[in-house]
Amino acid sequence: MSKPVRAKISALGTYVPPRLLTNADLEKMVDTTNDWIMERVGIRERHLVDKGVGASDLAVEAVKKLLKSHPFDLQQVDLIVVGTVTPDMMYPSTACLVQHKLGIENTWGFDVSAGCSGFLYALNTGTKFVESGRYKKVLVIGADVNSSMTDFTDRAVCIIFGDGAGAVLLEPAEEGEDGIIDHVAQVEGMGGQYLYMPGGGSLNPASHDTVDQKMHYIHQDGKQVFKYAVKKMSEMTERVLERNKLTGKDVDCFIAHQANRRIITATAERLEMPAEKVVINIDRFGNTTAGTIPLAMQTALEEKKLKKGNLVLLAAVGAGFTSGATLVRWAF
Ligand code: UT7
Repeated sequence: MSKPVRAKISALGTYVPPRLLTNADLEKMVDTTNDWIMERVGIRERHLVDKGVGASDLAVEAVKKLLKSHPFDLQQVDLIVVGTVTPDMMYPSTACLVQHKLGIENTWGFDVSAGCSGFLYALNTGTKFVESGRYKKVLVIGADVNSSMTDFTDRAVCIIFGDGAGAVLLEPAEEGEDGIIDHVAQVEGMGGQYLYMPGGGSLNPASHDTVDQKMHYIHQDGKQVFKYAVKKMSEMTERVLERNKLTGKDVDCFIAHQANRRIITATAERLEMPAEKVVINIDRFGNTTAGTIPLAMQTALEEKKLKKGNLVLLAAVGAGFTSGATLVRWAF
């Protein structure tokens, strides 16, 4: 029997559009304050696209950044998996648009829709392809243009979200080398009612009526999402650690979806992880949905919280509800 193949993350690239929306800007748009946003959520500013820029554009920029730090022949890419809930359009998939824009000739790909767990679910999927032994270079991308579905008169929503993307390259680990160790994931569809965009799909196709009713915007019951996220992120992280006979003390770096600073710190406290192991960059980017985890990986590298050989715990909870946690031995 052939030896099992392990997937590793061998490169990372991230991108946020240059335009900033600060809390001071938001104070002029809705009834809010910098103090409230900093205290309740922990965001100072977020980046937003200009008109005419879609998720595929952010994804392509993230891949170009990846290539700069880790040059290789893009024609070798076997598969492109894109986590997004803000595809450029209903179809073709963002993966097809990315393939075309990057000119990768002999590959295939698809999108994964899992809300704020989108990057983790795409990563789990790409991992399985590499582990099959047949796939040698898989691009896993998380990209979202949340501003495309944000009602900038809804103060409970517009302060949270930003636009951004990140891409990782998955390759087979060398003999004896660690990589992606394990994951857990779960969906609980009862949570769909608390965070969703009702308009534009097959149930409520776009019409003057759906637009008048603001059905093309994010609808969120923040309190319900918050309560679930705090409980579920702890549950999923504990589950993946227990499966691998580890505890929070074994983890070198905790990289969670950045939705609210309080959700991340509550999970870290539960796992007894000190602040220096916890990556937080929500202050600079807000919640970029599928972009948050690769953006936080980038921050972790820049802040030297993440080094080759480190045990990394990734976690996310999002619309669906979706949730997941993944254990990675960092490979570069
Ligand atoms: O990744 C998944 C995506 N979403 C999330 O993870 C969101 C999870 N939820 C949250 O992060 C928080 O629930 C929010 C940040 C959305 C809201 O924070 P909260 O502490 O749960 O506030 P709340 O909804 O309980 O509202 C408390 C008060 C309310 O006023 P009253 O009714 O007490 O007078 C709100 O109207 O805060 C008010 N409020 C605001 N005040 C100033 C809501 N939004 C704002 C705002 N500025 N932007």
